[in-house]
Formats: sequence, C-alpha cells, structure tokens
Amino acid sequence: MAQAGFLGTAATWSADVTLFLEIGMGMGLLAGTLLARAKCYRAHAVCQSMIVLLNVGLIAMAMIPSFRHQIIPKLPRKITKPYYAFATAHAALGGIAELGGLYILLSAGTKWLPEKIRITRYKFWMRSVLILWWFVLSLGIATYVHWYVPRP
Ligand code: HEM
Repeated sequence: MAQAGFLGTAATWSADVTLFLEIGMGMGLLAGTLLARAKCYRAHAVCQSMIVLLNVGLIAMAMIPSFRHQIIPKLPRKITKPYYAFATAHAALGGIAELGGLYILLSAGTKWLPEKIRITRYKFWMRSVLILWWFVLSLGIATYVHWYVPRP
C-alpha cells in the first residue's frame, strides 16, 4: 500500500511531495525572474534551467505514471467528469509548458538547435511560458484538491 501523505488529506506521500516541490518550483521561477530584472543574468539562467530540468524528472517519475494508470484507461469516455477533465487539461498544458521551458533552455543556453529555429524574442517566450506554467500549476493544485481533499 502507498505511504500516507503528510498534509492530512487523502493523498499519498508522493502526491504531497509533488505538490510541495511544484509550488516551490513555481515560486523559484518567480524568484529567477526577479534575478533577470536585477540584471543577474547568469544566476537567472542557472535558476530557471535547474527548475525546468528538475521538473522533467518529477513529470517522468510521478505524473506520467499516475496519468497512465488513473486517466488514460478512462479516456475519452469520462472526459466530462471533473476528476478526469482537470487532470487531462493539466497534463496537456503541462506538457506544452515543459516543452516551452526546454525550448528556451536549448535556445538560450546551448548551440544544439539549428540557428533557424532558435528563439530570438526571448522576453516574449519567457513571459509566455512563465504565465502558462503558473496556469498549469493552478490546474495541478485544482487536481490535487479535487482528488484528495474531502468535501464536507
Ligand atoms: C509545468 C508542468 C507541470 C506542473 C507545474 C505540474 C504541477 C502539478 C501539481 C502541483 C500537481 C498536484 C500534486 C499531485 O497531485 O501529485 C500535479 C499533479 C498531477 N500532474 Fe502535473 N504538472 C506539470 C506537468 C504535468 C504533465 C506533463 C503531466 C502529464 C502526464 C501531468 C500530470 C499530472 C497528474 C496525472 C497529476 C495527479 C498526480 C497524482 O496525484 O497521482 N502534469 N501536477
């Protein structure tokens, strides 16, 4: 049986850790944005890159397995039920946000991408991914609440 969580909800320990880490990473991205504002570009790059890469691990280890077991077998039949709708919207937009983060990281931090497809409008991309990321985080929190917080 999965270990019980530490937040006093019906969630497992792993779901509570995911929630905790994801909120921390969302705040970390905001702190990283302030670093860019303060013109500390090196620290900004390190901060945002670490978060984007750490999130790949969390998605692969916690969220994709859960999505495969809990959601995929019930799609598309149950997509109108909030339990599945929240998680599916969250997973689809979360995939886009993570890929957007990786795209910025590869464009700004490496020479691996052909020049033609590298980003030139950095500010636009960074702001858009940050907004999308926070939207996805809210959907993740909504999923957690819907799945694990008992209603009176
Ligand atoms: C920027 C990207 C993402 C962020 C910030 C994020 C954030 C979160 C948060 C805060 C939770 C609540 C904690 C929990 O219930 O475990 C969660 C849960 C979940 N996420 Fe994500 N997520 C992202 C990407 C994804 C992707 C790409 C998938 C696709 C498979 C996904 C699928 C799920 C599922 C199925 C849950 C429920 C997990 C469970 O409790 O068993 N997420 N996410």
